[in-house]
Amino acid sequence: MSAPRRVLVAGASGFVGRHLVSRLRTEGWPLRLGTRVPDLRRRDTPWLPWVPLDVDRPDTLDPALEGVDTLVYLVHHLHAHGPELVAREASAATRLARAAERHGVRRIVYLGAPAPAHHPSPHLLARARTGEALRASRVSTLELRAAMILGAGSQSWDLLRDLALRLPVLAAPAWLGARTAPIGIDDVVQGIALAMDHPARGSGAYDLPGPEVVTAAELVRRVAALSGRTLVRVPLPLVPVWAGGHGAALLSGVDPALARSLVAGLGCDLEPAGDGWWGLFPDADRTALDDALRAAMVAPRATPGAFGRAWERAVRGVGATRVSRRAAGGR
Ligand SMILES: NC(=O)c1ccc[n+]([C@@H]2O[C@H](COP(=O)([O-])OP(=O)(O)OC[C@H]3O[C@@H](n4cnc5c(N)ncnc54)[C@H](OP(=O)(O)O)[C@@H]3O)[C@@H](O)[C@H]2O)c1
Repeated sequence: MSAPRRVLVAGASGFVGRHLVSRLRTEGWPLRLGTRVPDLRRRDTPWLPWVPLDVDRPDTLDPALEGVDTLVYLVHHLHAHGPELVAREASAATRLARAAERHGVRRIVYLGAPAPAHHPSPHLLARARTGEALRASRVSTLELRAAMILGAGSQSWDLLRDLALRLPVLAAPAWLGARTAPIGIDDVVQGIALAMDHPARGSGAYDLPGPEVVTAAELVRRVAALSGRTLVRVPLPLVPVWAGGHGAALLSGVDPALARSLVAGLGCDLEPAGDGWWGLFPDADRTALDDALRAAMVAPRATPGAFGRAWERAVRGVGATRVSRRAAGGR
């Protein structure tokens, strides 16, 4: 690394942001961490350099970008939905990119998601439009497209883990056959760090795949197996995605709109064309899928939702009945 350059991380308080900031601090980068709620963040972590940044509020952009060389963009509005989400995210990205041009920012690194050829969910479409808006600027922008990121605190991973640990059987609608290349959080952070330093002058978009392509159903099965559960597969080809979203919300306790959005993403085919970004770094040390899954499973699971709690009570009830029958000499 040459002379240290100031980095603004937009979305620093999020799941990816927290991991990235930890690495950049260890490496000694001068940082500025953007958040909509600086007072709250300073109260919780007063040693971190928080600055006000709300991409929906143009007055916050110039002060945050003053003297910045590299902008890492990790912002998204998962709780909004539909066409409103797509338009809102794209115009926020355009505003920020124009401000970055004004301030002579040298590099934008944007972590987005793969764009499925058919029927992208609104969330995935918003990711794609955000990338296009940033790459349309005069700032050299590298967009890295990750499918599900594995790590405790990643909302899509937390939902998948809850499903794998709570589903009584592997209910498999046709859309769970969608193919994807999930990636561990350490590899995502490594990919972003490489993009911050890459000498490219222009802009480009690259897939950031994990090392294995699996179906969403296989992923659920693997997570269950790693925690000692064998899930019997029950094909349910006609269950629509929206019903899967409601079921996932009940089972996990995740907000229903968010669960619908996450499940819609799970049902999209996100198979990468090849090694993508990693093709430029053939010697990069990447994490095997099962190792990334094990690392992500170490953290405690989320609190179960209403259905999850009822299901656990029922399972405990069956277990207790079996034990008392055995104690009484029954089978
Ligand atoms: N997690 C995954 O599985 C996954 C997979 C593929 C791609 N990605 C992409 O990776 C990026 C980061 O994801 P994540 O999982 O880390 O997200 P996250 O945990 O939900 O964090 C989102 C961040 O966005 C910030 N934010 C929201 N609205 C904002 C606004 N109007 N102005 C400024 N900041 C705003 C929040 O900061 P404050 O609340 O502090 O303002 C928060 O730090 C996103 O682009 C996402 O699409 C994630």
